[in-house]
Amino acid sequence: MISADAIQRRVREIAEQISRDYQSLERPLILLSVLKGSVCFATDLSRYVTVPVNFDYVAVSSYGAGTQSSGHVQLLKDLTMDVGGRDVLMVEDIIDTGLTTSFLFDHVQRHQPKSLKLCVLLNKEERRITPVPIAYKGFDIPNQFVVGYGLDFDELYRNLTAVHILEP
Ligand code: IMP
Ligand code: MG
Repeated sequence: MISADAIQRRVREIAEQISRDYQSLERPLILLSVLKGSVCFATDLSRYVTVPVNFDYVAVSSYGAGTQSSGHVQLLKDLTMDVGGRDVLMVEDIIDTGLTTSFLFDHVQRHQPKSLKLCVLLNKEERRITPVPIAYKGFDIPNQFVVGYGLDFDELYRNLTAVHILEP
């Protein structure tokens, strides 16, 4: 669906935008990556941004081995950094129903960061149930299940460098 080159080009563009928007940081920007799907995206982004960054990770579960959301979000791994008073950029692989992201957004917001913005590689607008405020977006995609560049089906295909449609 999206070639490795196209992904890298877009990631660089987003990183430039982020670098401009956060150029007057007081403390490093916290890149909050949502495990495991956004690790590739967050890592590549971090290599292209020119502002100082810290890394943190959270993990949630909502999907089993299927391609449909169960709608039930559970926090499996919490923040390790104190994000209070900090600039936080939450990095997501894909927003589908929006349930996972809105759950996490509220969770982080409760720690009273100085700012909290959302950066997402792929957006399936058609599937949205809960609206989420996207600040940086890689690509809008149609309602198809995709894998690669961090995204999995049953823990497979995360290592692919492009984004592919999963053949049933
Ligand atoms: P949401 O809560 O429905 O927005 O789902 C978000 C999560 O579901 C993402 O972080 C992914 O882990 C997973 N997901 C949603 N769509 C896809 C897809 O097309 N491929 C792989 N994982 C997906
Ligand atoms: Mg998954």
